Amino acid sequence: MCGIVGYVGTECCAHLLLSGLRRLEYRGYDSAGIAIANDDGQVQVCRAEGKLTNLEQAYRQEPFDGAIGVGHTRWATHGRPSESNAHPHRAGRVVVAHNGIIENYLELKEKLTAQGREFTSETDTEVVAHLIDEAWNPSTRSLHEATCEALEEIEGSYALAVISTENPEELVVARNASPMVIARGRDCAFAASDVPAVLDHTRRFIFLHDGDTAVLRTGGIEVFDSNGEPVEREVKRIAWDPISAEKQGYKHFMLKEIHEQPARITDTLRGRVSVDRGEVHLPELGLDEQTVQKLDKIVFVACGTSFFAAQIAKYMIEEVARIPVETDLASEFRYRNPLISDDTLAIAISQSGETADTLAAIREAGERGARTLGIVNVIESTIAREADGVIYTHAGPEIGVASTKAFTTQLTAVAMLAIKLGRLKGTLDVAQARELIEALRHVPAEMENLLQDSSLYEKLARGYSQAKSFLYLGRGNQYPIAMEGALKLKEISYIHAEGYAAGEMKHGPIALIDRNMPVVVLSPRNSVYEKTASNLEEVKARGGRIIAIGTEGDERLDAFSDVVIPLPKVHEFVQPLISVVVVQLIAYHIADFKGTDIDQPRNLAKSVTVE
Ligand code: AGP
Repeated sequence: MCGIVGYVGTECCAHLLLSGLRRLEYRGYDSAGIAIANDDGQVQVCRAEGKLTNLEQAYRQEPFDGAIGVGHTRWATHGRPSESNAHPHRAGRVVVAHNGIIENYLELKEKLTAQGREFTSETDTEVVAHLIDEAWNPSTRSLHEATCEALEEIEGSYALAVISTENPEELVVARNASPMVIARGRDCAFAASDVPAVLDHTRRFIFLHDGDTAVLRTGGIEVFDSNGEPVEREVKRIAWDPISAEKQGYKHFMLKEIHEQPARITDTLRGRVSVDRGEVHLPELGLDEQTVQKLDKIVFVACGTSFFAAQIAKYMIEEVARIPVETDLASEFRYRNPLISDDTLAIAISQSGETADTLAAIREAGERGARTLGIVNVIESTIAREADGVIYTHAGPEIGVASTKAFTTQLTAVAMLAIKLGRLKGTLDVAQARELIEALRHVPAEMENLLQDSSLYEKLARGYSQAKSFLYLGRGNQYPIAMEGALKLKEISYIHAEGYAAGEMKHGPIALIDRNMPVVVLSPRNSVYEKTASNLEEVKARGGRIIAIGTEGDERLDAFSDVVIPLPKVHEFVQPLISVVVVQLIAYHIADFKGTDIDQPRNLAKSVTVE
């Protein structure tokens, strides 16, 4: 996620902007920039690709300063990481820094180009700068009024900071579905996408609401609601130290990212699904109806958690698109002389887009004639660049080594892909597509509810963290979640765990069952519930200690289980997105109770770029 810092006051602010951006480095970024207006009505901009040291070096070569400015660290969503795509973006008299996704930027860009506007970047943000400049006549309206008019044309999420050449004493900010805080200082005011950026200067913040805009001046702040009416927003005192502030008060980045999942799933769906039309819009997919009709199979290649996303994809795609799907561990795929034809679609799932085994596997598939697709989180990563098509997840940078929000946004992407393929293949009609899209759109709210209370997990951690080994069982699309739950526990708590198909338990693992090995059973009400429930009884009959993850209100589970964790009732198609949150929290709280290094577990790397 990008970072924004803004200042208006009586001091020269270049150093403040750069130090504020440093405080936002943890968010992950691929380029950065600052823009400062001086009293002569000039706005100077300095931007650089890569780390902040590159920006500071560029700035030192041609320093400039002034008493109003904005800074930005960019995590690319539209357009590759580059100096020309870095923020802030200028259009005429207006300079903008932006976080979020402008869904209708292409049509706005076409309209503005037709009006004679020229663009210098691939970003959606530059469109906002042109819209404001186009709407602004300084003799009749303020920069704030022009910004509000421009926002009326925009669909999507934004946190905006706007300065200008004509009005160098006002910093205008706006917020919709992307965080923005503002604060008053002594003869100055601050704006930031995140508290840490300005925590060195103040601890009293106004957290803008969606639809709010504000005008910051040396003498004070005016806030306006979504109707443009002046409004008083509460000033909150933040007691966090800067490090806690970087985690937004969460104890670990992993916990913050678990809680971010509803918002990141919303971001990944944004602009890509229409319930009314029963359509999924994936322009970067590069697949048409004829190609899809000819597909003989789809092969997924991935590693670790991403491999479990591929296994969920198999259930989803075969269910709704009736196309044969194979899933391969990337490190195995390359060496099994795989059967690939020109009618095979090979899909790599990778958060980093740089995993060596996955990269090698997708290259191998392409060399054997397959059409390739990447489902990737990092824009312009190697897999994203080399594949024939790409679906970007919008998880934002994932700081915790153990993958959480990357996984659920991968599931969101493969769910959209399954619906898209089903519609192209003709195996999914509009009504069925609407039902699945509706189910997807309800996931964030259901997930939010699930995340409200952690007391059950803290109690579970106290009771089970001494176990030496766990068994996770699941059937159908809960089987990969059982394996993901086991991986999460292993990764961050260092307790051995094994994920197994529930139906397979009697073929061996049942010998392990005793009071010393907790058994986590994923058994929501679904098409395989009865079978899974009988597995619960098998475990109980042998003295196993069961942690059942079931649908709320299912009293049958109480009879067999030591602990029952309730899930909301959701469509079976999206159940994996919900149940995985429970196994993430089980792993997190057990590891937290044990005191392991949750964000940087021993021996692990965030991206395994070696084979
Ligand atoms: C997940 O918690 C692990 N950190 C690891 O298994 C990871 O999923 C795997 O290394 C694949 O990474 P990628 O998604 O970046 O390709």
